[in-house]
Amino acid sequence: MALVLLEREGAVVVVTLNRPEKLNALSEPLMTELVSALEELDADPEVRCILLAGSDKAFAAGADVAELAAFSGPELYAGRRVERWDALRRVRTPLVAAVSGFCLGGGCELALACDLILASETAVFGQPETGLGIIPGAGGTQRLARAAGKALAMDVVLTGRRLSAEEARSAGLVARVLPAASWLADAKAVTAEIAAKAPLAQRLAAESIDRAFESPLTAGLDYERRSLELTLATDDAQEGLQAFLEKREPRFRGS
Ligand code: COA
Repeated sequence: MALVLLEREGAVVVVTLNRPEKLNALSEPLMTELVSALEELDADPEVRCILLAGSDKAFAAGADVAELAAFSGPELYAGRRVERWDALRRVRTPLVAAVSGFCLGGGCELALACDLILASETAVFGQPETGLGIIPGAGGTQRLARAAGKALAMDVVLTGRRLSAEEARSAGLVARVLPAASWLADAKAVTAEIAAKAPLAQRLAAESIDRAFESPLTAGLDYERRSLELTLATDDAQEGLQAFLEKREPRFRGS
């Protein structure tokens, strides 16, 4: 059975992690399927937003502990695991995580690697790795600290404390908390809004926001200004500006 399910809804594709019996633990086969699906979707200009979800009970309960226990450090280093996480970073189509239930360890890191996290009120975030004698290895110390600050990152990583959806929202990890009964439908509605905007502008805007965490302010402002200039040269900018002036809905083509 496929470890990752794809469902196309207009310009949005919902990618569902499908290993419910192991709470979507991120095994090598699952990560391989996920990354190759995301790379394929990213290359498709008709896809304007990707929604990554798990089940009601678990977005993902972390790296596959049984698999990890069988690896030595050098084997992990020599393997393709790191490449897969790097490939995730290269996805340029807006990538939204819809989190319900457990979002722990590598699952939390996977959500943090997305552009945006939407969470059901049942979501539980945490980095329990130090309780297993290891540390987060796919951004859990870096992206968590950037999103939520040093104090909370230290608390979560060093104590293993889990955050509720609301706590994660107020800490800046999560953009919106959604009702448990409608989290997936509500998340789809958000991705439909994202997909309706100009695709090149969306990508450049997201890249520009990412720059805020990776460069000095002057360099980030410069990148933002140049990205604006670039968008002004696109057909979609002409369409968007004209549509406003003509009081009609724009029709963006991604060019
Ligand atoms: N890796 C491998 N298998 C996992 C897993 C993981 N990260 N998380 C859960 N599973 C498996 C369990 O072993 C169990 O399998 P089994 O039925 O064959 O025994 C199945 O998924 C269901 O999990 P279970 O622990 O029975 O569910 P629960 O509702 O009692 O507890 C959790 C849920 C999330 C609290 C618990 O599964 C857990 O602590 N998971 C590990 C979280 C973690 O440490 N992640 C970081 C890994 S580096």
